[in-house]
Amino acid sequence: MSPCWGGTPAVLRLLGGLTLLLLLLCPHAARGDCSLPPDIPNAQPDLKGLTSFPNKKVVTYKCNKGFVKVPGEPDSVICLENVWSSIKEFCNRSCNVPTRLLFATLKKPYNTQNYFPSGSVVEYECRLGFKRDHSLSGNLTCLQNFTWSKSDEFCKKKSCPNPGKIINGNVIVKTDILYGSSISFSCNTGYKLVGSALSACVLKGTSTDWSHPLPECKESSPISKPTSTPQKPTTTDVPGTKPPSTPQKSTTVNVSATEGSSTPQKPTTTDVPATQGPAVAKTTTSVHSRSTSKGSGTISAGTSFIASGHTFITLTVLLMALVAMAT
Ligand SMILES: *[C@@H]1O[C@H](CO)[C@@H](O)[C@H](O)[C@H]1NC(C)=O
Ligand SMILES: *[C@@H]1O[C@H](CO)[C@@H](O)[C@H](O)[C@H]1NC(C)=O
Ligand SMILES: *[C@@H]1O[C@H](CO)[C@@H](O)[C@H](O)[C@H]1NC(C)=O
Ligand SMILES: *[C@@H]1O[C@H](CO)[C@@H](O)[C@H](O)[C@H]1NC(C)=O
Repeated sequence: MSPCWGGTPAVLRLLGGLTLLLLLLCPHAARGDCSLPPDIPNAQPDLKGLTSFPNKKVVTYKCNKGFVKVPGEPDSVICLENVWSSIKEFCNRSCNVPTRLLFATLKKPYNTQNYFPSGSVVEYECRLGFKRDHSLSGNLTCLQNFTWSKSDEFCKKKSCPNPGKIINGNVIVKTDILYGSSISFSCNTGYKLVGSALSACVLKGTSTDWSHPLPECKESSPISKPTSTPQKPTTTDVPGTKPPSTPQKSTTVNVSATEGSSTPQKPTTTDVPATQGPAVAKTTTSVHSRSTSKGSGTISAGTSFIASGHTFITLTVLLMALVAMAT
């Protein structure tokens, strides 16, 4: 801390004098150190708990909540021989990053931006499977109160081609034939559905098309009676009143699982117990049939005999093993 500015010019002597004065005011700051960095509106310096900063030390500021760094403006100061470098106000109010839209994404320059002063405009482009509705604006504006202007649904779902007709069967459009929707097929009584019982409007490249071709309705084999066909054809033989609910359950789940769209959640929930049902039933019935089928007392004796026989063999084997080990 000893002053040693022997043969220096007068100006430097003056500076040195000032330093000495500062040193006297802040006794523990070493020569050349800076004290606390300047206050910047709407920002706080990251001091890391320090109160004194050596020469060349850099301190970076962070904008307060609700404020964003203006791109290109410096956000740090450097201690240069006990004086902080100058810095301008660099934090400004900004809209948040624009809302994520289901049907559109931010265009290129805007999707990496995070400073949106009031009055700034961002442009969107439609997601795949959607087409632009040119009657509505695809831009959003950061308003005076730093909220974004309301977004119209300026991109609409693309449509799949008209599915056509099935000879001796029906095409069932549940909602519409737009991107993400699915349609199902049924055959008239006496006809068997060959192909998929369901098709979804999906992306094919950049456009939309059906996931499956139309099925065929083939005349059921003449051996089986046309009216009361056995068990399996439930899928195909439903007259067409409301077939989508029951017959295609499994298919609906499968398609929905791969499509990942929003609507098909219901079938999944209904189908889970359905698939679990038989499995549980199987195990329980098999257990029950054993004990109940052949009376109670005798059978339990019989089963216990079988069980004890089993145990006996196991014990014998164990004993033999033990004897073998002992000898
Ligand atoms: C802050 O934003 C306003 C507009 O919202 C603008 O006029 C002003 O120049 C901005 N300040 C800085 C430091 O960029
Ligand atoms: C909105 O976007 C269009 C292009 O889609 C552009 O030509 C127009 O200038 C934008 N409007 C504003 C106010 O920036
Ligand atoms: C912001 O301003 C717009 C239009 O001036 C208004 O519709 C909107 O409700 C305001 N939002 C808030 C949060 O004040
Ligand atoms: C779902 O599809 C897979 C093949 O993609 C098939 O192995 C599976 O059995 C199907 N599951 C149901 C419930 O249809």
